[in-house]
Amino acid sequence: MGKDVIIACDFASKEETLNFLDLFKKEERKPFLKIGMELFYAEGPAIVKELKARGHKIFLDLKLHDIPNTVKKAMAVLSRLDVDMTNLHASGTISMMEGALEGLTRPDGSRPLLIAVTQLTSTDQERMERDLLIKEPIDQVVMHYASNAAKAGLDGVVCSPLEAGKVHDTCGKNFLTVTPGVRFADGDVGDQKRVMTPEQAKKIGSDYIVVGRPITAAEDPVAAYRRCVSEFVD
Ligand code: C5P
Repeated sequence: MGKDVIIACDFASKEETLNFLDLFKKEERKPFLKIGMELFYAEGPAIVKELKARGHKIFLDLKLHDIPNTVKKAMAVLSRLDVDMTNLHASGTISMMEGALEGLTRPDGSRPLLIAVTQLTSTDQERMERDLLIKEPIDQVVMHYASNAAKAGLDGVVCSPLEAGKVHDTCGKNFLTVTPGVRFADGDVGDQKRVMTPEQAKKIGSDYIVVGRPITAAEDPVAAYRRCVSEFVD
C-alpha cells in the first residue's frame, strides 16, 4: 500500500455513514476509511463488512490494550473481519504487541497492517508526569514507544505529522507514519492544536493522513477529499 488519504468516519450510525459515502458513489478512487470506537460500538462488525463489500479499505481504530493473550485473541477476530489496518497502544508492552501480531496473522501468512499509538495527543508533559509518573521528555517517550513497536515487528505508529520525520529517522523510512491533525491552509483548525496541511504532511514524509472534519464537515466533501488526494498523493 502506498501513500493514501484515510477519511475518519466519525459518525454515530450506519445511516449517517452511508449517507456520507453515497456522495462518493461516482468517484473513481474509493476512499480508504477509518472506523473508530463510536461507529464500531454502535453498529458492530456488520459495518466493517458492509463498507468492505462496497470496496473500501478499512482502518479499524479500536486502540487495543490488555494482557497479551486477550489482545492476541481479539486481534484474530479483527483479522477475520478482513480489515486492512488496525491498532493498539504501545504502552501495553512489547509482549502485548508481539501477541497482537501473532493473533492478527492469518493461516496464509497475510495480515492487516498493525499500527501503534504512542502517547495520545491529548496527553501533555504535565499530565504524563502527574498522572502516569513518567518523567522523561514526552518526545523521547514517543520515540521510545515507536522503537518498541518496531522491535515487536509492527508496521508503524500513529503520530502528529510534526513527528513523522523523527519517527522515520529513529525507526527507518519503511516504518509507517499515520498522521491525523491535518488541516487545509485556509481551513478551520477546530480542537486540533499541532496541525499541518496535506501538502506539508507529504513533504515531511507521512505515509497516510487521517482526515475527519476537513472532509466530513465540508460543504462539498468530495471536492475536499479530491483536494487532499491532489495535495498529498498525486
Ligand atoms: O476531524 P479530524 O480531522 O480532527 O479527525 C481526526 C481523526 O483522527 C479523529 O478520528 C481522531 O480521533 C483521530 N486522531 C487524532 N489524534 C490522534 C489520534 C487519532 O486526531 N492522536
